[in-house]
Amino acid sequence: MTPSTNLRKRVLSGMRSTGKLHLGNYVGALDNWVRMQDEYECFFCVVDWHALTTDYADTSQVKRNSLEVALDWLAAGLDPEKAVIFIQSHVPAHAELHLLLSMITPLGWLERVPTYKEQRENIKDKDLGTYGFLGYPVLQAADILMYKADVVPVGEDQVAHIELTREIARRFNGFYGKRGDVFPEPQSLLTRAPKLPGTDGRKMSKSYGNAILLTDPEPVVRQKLKTMVTDPARVRRSDPGNPDVCPVGDLHKIFSSSDTMEKVNVGCRSAGIGCIECKSWAADALVQLLSPMQERRKKFEENPRLAWDILEAGSERARQVAAKTMDGVRDAMGMSLAYEPPVVNDAK
Ligand code: TRP
Ligand code: SF4
Repeated sequence: MTPSTNLRKRVLSGMRSTGKLHLGNYVGALDNWVRMQDEYECFFCVVDWHALTTDYADTSQVKRNSLEVALDWLAAGLDPEKAVIFIQSHVPAHAELHLLLSMITPLGWLERVPTYKEQRENIKDKDLGTYGFLGYPVLQAADILMYKADVVPVGEDQVAHIELTREIARRFNGFYGKRGDVFPEPQSLLTRAPKLPGTDGRKMSKSYGNAILLTDPEPVVRQKLKTMVTDPARVRRSDPGNPDVCPVGDLHKIFSSSDTMEKVNVGCRSAGIGCIECKSWAADALVQLLSPMQERRKKFEENPRLAWDILEAGSERARQVAAKTMDGVRDAMGMSLAYEPPVVNDAK
């Protein structure tokens, strides 16, 4: 490592083990992470314990899903030579820190987190009235503080979790940081996440069944585009449309060249092009983006052991950093492992 390595700011981010990733995961996070690897000292964590907070009843797919996430990360260009890529549950110290942080986190802080309230209201098919689900952001705080991350790249919905992490860090430092702060307060780095619609026009999401996966082969991408909804005002080929209200138009804005965008803008508004043609251009752009990823993925798909080895090596590095942090934490709390003689009553 060059000396400058240590001067780089540290990044930590995480993604739940949900299995194969889609384009929304790419433009919302992964794309950004790949670019950050050169500038920051990066830790990227597959947060499999976070997956359990909602999917605790059936754990049969969690491990498989962690590997799938890692395959997509490597395919997208995360590089184990540059970043530490690891699995949360392989670094048990996250659980230890989570426990200690949970002692100082007021319940009210957790009950006020917007994602908590939303998900309790919206997810009805699972019982989310669990201790673990309420504590989700404390576990996230442990992930972040364990590596003393300066910067946490996240989407809009996660900003409240980072703010909570800062509050927990402040409270910890206040109680135990007599000899200086134990934890720095991390900053969130908001990923400019363009609105990425799925094939039905709603936000792209695995659970809506409207996603284009990073692993979708060309024919599947083209087929999905064919069924994608368009500007409802364009009923007939001769009706003019508006790319600004069309989900396919949104895809062009994110993925197509300015030349293509120009052709879409002019052609759609004048009914000079048909939607079928327009969609095929969008599919071209997606195939162009995805094919190098799928090419990179092949090696790992043929031998997934390679990806697992990367996760294991990353987890080992993460455990080393975590062990240091935990020494500092125990020390600050007066609970180090070292023998200390009993205090004699020196009040004369
Ligand atoms: N809560 C994050 C999400 O749902 C995932 C996550 C867990 C995370 N731990 C993290 C993100 C630490 C950033 C940093 O997207
Ligand atoms: Fe959408 Fe393209 Fe059809 Fe216009 S031409 S409505 S942008 S698919």
